[in-house]
Parts: sequence; structure tokens; C-alpha cells
Amino acid sequence: MSRVHMRDLFDADPGRFERFSLECGPLFLDYSKNRIDGTTLRLLTELAESVNLADWMTRMRSGDKINLSENRAVLHTALRNRSDEPVYVDGEDVMPGVREVLQRMRRFTDRVRGGEWLGYTGKRITTVVNIGIGGSDLGPMLVARALKPFGAAGIDTHFVSNVDGGHLSDVVAGLDAETTLFVVTSKSFTTPETLLNAESARDWLVAKLGHADAVARHFVAVSTNTPAVKAFGIDPDHMFGFWDWVGGRYSLWSAVGLTVAIQIGMDHFEALLDGAYEMDCHFFSQPFERNIPVILALLGIWYNTCFGAHTHAVIPYNQSLSRLPAHLQQLDMESNGKRVTRDGFTLDFDTGPVIWGEVGVNCQHAFFQLLHQGTRLVPADFVLAVKSNYPLGNHQDILVANCLAQTQALMRGKSEAEARAELEAQGLTGEALEQLLPHKVFPGNQPSNTILLDRLTPRSVGGLIAMYEHKVFVQGVIWGLNSFDQWGVEYGKQLAKRITPQLTDYSSLDTHDASTRGLIERYRRHRGG
Ligand code: F6P
Repeated sequence: MSRVHMRDLFDADPGRFERFSLECGPLFLDYSKNRIDGTTLRLLTELAESVNLADWMTRMRSGDKINLSENRAVLHTALRNRSDEPVYVDGEDVMPGVREVLQRMRRFTDRVRGGEWLGYTGKRITTVVNIGIGGSDLGPMLVARALKPFGAAGIDTHFVSNVDGGHLSDVVAGLDAETTLFVVTSKSFTTPETLLNAESARDWLVAKLGHADAVARHFVAVSTNTPAVKAFGIDPDHMFGFWDWVGGRYSLWSAVGLTVAIQIGMDHFEALLDGAYEMDCHFFSQPFERNIPVILALLGIWYNTCFGAHTHAVIPYNQSLSRLPAHLQQLDMESNGKRVTRDGFTLDFDTGPVIWGEVGVNCQHAFFQLLHQGTRLVPADFVLAVKSNYPLGNHQDILVANCLAQTQALMRGKSEAEARAELEAQGLTGEALEQLLPHKVFPGNQPSNTILLDRLTPRSVGGLIAMYEHKVFVQGVIWGLNSFDQWGVEYGKQLAKRITPQLTDYSSLDTHDASTRGLIERYRRHRGG
């Protein structure tokens, strides 16, 4: 296939679009613009069979502890299990607990939205600030932005994650403490960035409202760690729990989605779960060759491992999905950015790609030059909604036309003969034409998937995110990885803990390398204060 051009594949098979497209509820996948034919697909699905993918799917869904290095089950699918089926972990059905938290979320969000839960001075809550990082930030922020039109009038949401004081300061600068609710979201409730932001937010609130008692009306927590929440000063009655079998980057569907639920209401939040459940049912029931997450995973492996592509671009042609690339970066790279198998063997082939992207059409005016005429193979997902939630003149038609044009150009390219004919039509001849010609040629053959949603709704957004979760899982299984631990983020945290006091205590830096020592010394000299 490395010598085959997709243009020829399309010319040879008028039924290619029908053959290589799939549907699940409000989501449609066109994967015909890939360097594949029927044989490629058969071989790739055989690869999935050869690693017993179906068994791994069953093991995940039924609560087996497939996160071996942390000895945990992986059950984000239980959070959106909308059936009556029980799901067991260690012999105990987790579903009653899941439903109980959803009911508590409903009671709380109704009270906040209905003006029954009041701030310390008796005013309604109009602003919710989620304080969290990684999975306790990215997924909820993506959904809050994507589903803003489904939000209640009079409730704004903000997300504070970075320990850079500028983040919290910037957000609270425009807020009224009397009407602001902070949701401190941390699975572990030990993440230093989140705890520091929460402490600073608490100081800000107490300073504004004049009494520490105000904290009880303006702070709630989402966590698995009740003692730490208590120690922070939040009443466990105002805490929403979840479980160790929910990975941080898969936690949006749990109480981690509380800020989203306050914004869009519990009916819409449950529609988000319904959308994810619809994708789960598709994933667990469809044969591999008709299974959207499996197909996406196999295509990714095809390019990464077989063609040596190093990256995968995610390009949402929808401003409301601006945080999709960031969420998928954590989901994919924290899950499959690994070089050791679940049994501890070091791999000798490439695994998880660098995920990156930006909204279209903006990216067309930034990095698309490289995609069209650069030297690298860059597989990409284009995500697009048919109907806009913000109808405005013919904006949507222009947006859609641009998206379709880009995927077409990337696939077809422009041959030398076509470029020559165009230049001649413009009146160019001779040396001037020959000089310009190579710059006007587009090699094409850049693969892309187009993921078309009917509209951004809770259901379609739920399905979209669940689709990517399962894609990442399938890739991990095929590469032999445990996609659900994240030991690689620990080392930097460990060193930061050591460096933090050294920035101010003037202790010896002898154990550091010259670069780190030099930078700490420079920081000490210039930090002032
Ligand atoms: O540092 C990585 C990480 O552990 C992520 O996996 C997680 O989503 C994030 O930090 C936040 O963790 P927590 O919810 O425990 O604060």
C-alpha cells in the first residue's frame, strides 16, 4: 500500500465511500480517505483478533482488574451504564453506588439552578468555578464549552487548573464572591496544584465575604478521598464521591462532571451519559470490521506502527470543540505514551503518537502548509457538525465547505500536469512557468477520517468522547500496553517537590546537574521578595 495513491483507489472503486463509512446514532464516520483497501482492513482486523481483543473488551466491561500495575478495574463504562445490568467489582455490584451519586448530583444541581442553594449572604449562585487539573479539568471543560447553548441562563462556568497564579487571579478578577461556587475536583485530593489553587480561592472568598463560615456555602468537593476533603475544611455532606476504578482521564462521566451538570442540568448530563452508552453498546456488540472505535484504532496503528507516522492531528471544525485536541492529548498520550508492555517488556516499535490539533478554519491559516506540502505523513481526524448551535447567515456552509475542501485536497493532491495546466490557463509560459511549477504541486495521499455529528448535543458529544476512549483502549491492547496507569507523570512531580523549598531556603545545590543548579541560582538572585 505504500506505493498506492488514494486518488487511484477512489477512481477504481465508485462504492468506496459506502464501503468505508459507518454510523452510530448521531455520529457518522467516513474513513474512505485512508490508504487502505479491503485486504488491508481484513489483515488489520486479523491483527486485532490475534491479540484476543474481544476478550480484553469483555474483561474491561465486566470489572476485571485489567489495570495491572495499580491492581484496579477499569469501569468508566459502568458510569454510563443505562441498562439494568449489574456490574461487579470484587463480587459487589457497583451500579447502586453509581445511581446514588447521580441522584445526589441531581438534587444538588437542582438546588443550585433553582436558587434554593444560596451563598453565605443569601444570594443565588450565578458562577461555578471548577478547580482541578488533567482529567479533573480537561473533559469537563471540553463538554462545558461544547454544550454551552444547553446551559441555564444566569449560570456561568469557569475552569482553573494551572498553578500559575495568573490563572486563578484572572478568573476571580471579574467575579462576585457572594454568587460564586467553587467545585474542587480531584480524584486523589493530593494534587498540589489543585490544593494550592483551592486554598488561594478560599482565601480570596474569606477576604471578600469577611468570615470563614462562608466557605461552607461556597465550596463543594468531588473526590475519592473523604479524609483529605475533610482536612481541607469541606463538609463530607458537600462532597460527591467516585471510585478507584474510574481513571482520571476517564472520569468526566462521574461526579467529576458536576460543574457541567450544574451548567446544563441533570437531564442534559444524563443525555451525555446516554450518548456514551450508545457508543459503548456499539463498541461491545459490533464486529471489528463494522466497529467505529476498532476501525479508528486499527487505522492509527496502520500509520503509526507500519508507516512510521509520529503524530496524529485532531481538527475540529467547530469553535465549541476547541478543547477537544487538549482532552484527547491527555486521553491518548497519558494512556498509550508507553514503551513497556503490561508484562514489563520493552517494545522495539512505535506506540502512541503525538496528538495535537487546533480548530478549523484557523489551522488552515497556520500549520496546514506542512500537511499539504511538507515531508511528513500526518494522519488527521476532522470533526464536524452538520447543524450549528449558532446559526448565523451562511457561516456554517462556509465552515463545512472549508473542511470538506481540506480533506479532499489532502487526499487528492494536485499533480504536476494539473498544476501546469492551471499555470498555463493563467497565461504563464516558459521559464517563469517552470520555476513556479514545483511549488504548485501537492503530493496528496495524506489520510484523514471525517467524523460527522448531526449537531453538538449532549448525546452526540457523549458518543464522540466515548468513541475516542475505546479507540485508545483498543490500540493499547494491540500494542500490549496497560492504558490505564500513568507512572510517567510521577518523576517530574517528585523532583519538583525537592526543588520547591530550594528556591527559597538557600540550601546546597550540589546534588543537581550544572544546568538545573545554574537556573535555580539565577532564580534565587532575581526573584526578589
Ligand atoms: O498528573 C497526572 C494526573 O494524575 C492525571 O492522571 C489526573 O487526571 C490528574 O493528575 C489530576 O489528578 P487528581 O484528579 O487526583 O487531582
